[in-house]
Amino acid sequence: MTSSTTTSAIEGIDAITYSTDRWDDAKKFFADWGLKSANQTDAQQVWETLNGCQVRVRRTDDAELPPAMEAGPTLREVTWGVTDAAALEKLVAPLSKAPGFEDRRATDGTLRALDPHGLRVIFQVTQKHAIDIKGAPTNPWGDVRRVDMPSPIYERAEPIEVGHVVFFTDKLAEMEAFYATLGFVASDRYPGRGVFMRCAPNAGHHDLFLLALPGKGPGLNHVAFTVRDIHEVFGGGLHISRCGWKTQLGPGRHPISSAYFWYFENPCGGLIEYNADEDHLTGEWAVREFEPGPTMFAEWAIDGGLDGHTRRQPNVQASGKFLTEKK
Ligand SMILES: [Fe+2]
Repeated sequence: MTSSTTTSAIEGIDAITYSTDRWDDAKKFFADWGLKSANQTDAQQVWETLNGCQVRVRRTDDAELPPAMEAGPTLREVTWGVTDAAALEKLVAPLSKAPGFEDRRATDGTLRALDPHGLRVIFQVTQKHAIDIKGAPTNPWGDVRRVDMPSPIYERAEPIEVGHVVFFTDKLAEMEAFYATLGFVASDRYPGRGVFMRCAPNAGHHDLFLLALPGKGPGLNHVAFTVRDIHEVFGGGLHISRCGWKTQLGPGRHPISSAYFWYFENPCGGLIEYNADEDHLTGEWAVREFEPGPTMFAEWAIDGGLDGHTRRQPNVQASGKFLTEKK
């Protein structure tokens, strides 16, 4: 999300809508993932992150949704929050050229259209709310920030918001051009193969990543949920692993964006990521170019994840405690 609210701009992801036929698995998964249940009906599950970003789950054949960009469970809508009504007004002209354009500002406050994949994109004045939480400061050499204060251990994650979405694409140039007309800017790129885009010049490294693989059509690669700090990536990942969900890769660290990650398989489609400590960019940032490869994706990563059951600590838990703890 962008940290600047001084100019009208797209602020970040306000909501996403998945579709799946694994209804009960989805319900258990998002509860385990650390989201709060906001509303549950037979047609829609609504979950919320700490700042009110919504994750909605609908049935695959739901008539409210546009046709899916791929078979199986996947993402069907992304709602982008903007800073104010002026920012929404600026989007009318570019969005009105896209298929499926609807100006619903007078009824539900949204603009909507379909992107080149047929994914529904919705824009609204952000419904997320500011929250007063901070990740733990660290003590790198020469910049000690944490004094008389231990860093936290998280029993599980409580995601702050949806940080970014990633799609496979067979229309890389067309997709980048579509989002660029809305105000997204490139942060880094794999020339001809992928582009990392942020939704405003002053923002986290990417809100959207588009990845073109030979012979691969459009689809969901993953959705990332931002957590407070690296400790919550570990605590959340260990918890979700203990709940029985399968790690795809992680924990690990991305060279591009510098973020820590842990990826899991998601019953609603694609992968799902806990993510923390990404780079923050401004208009001064110069786009870098990389050649794709496993070591550009992850500086390091634990294949298969850390096992929350067989690691050493739980087996010795009863033999150790803080002797000075008073409770
Ligand atoms: Fe990611």
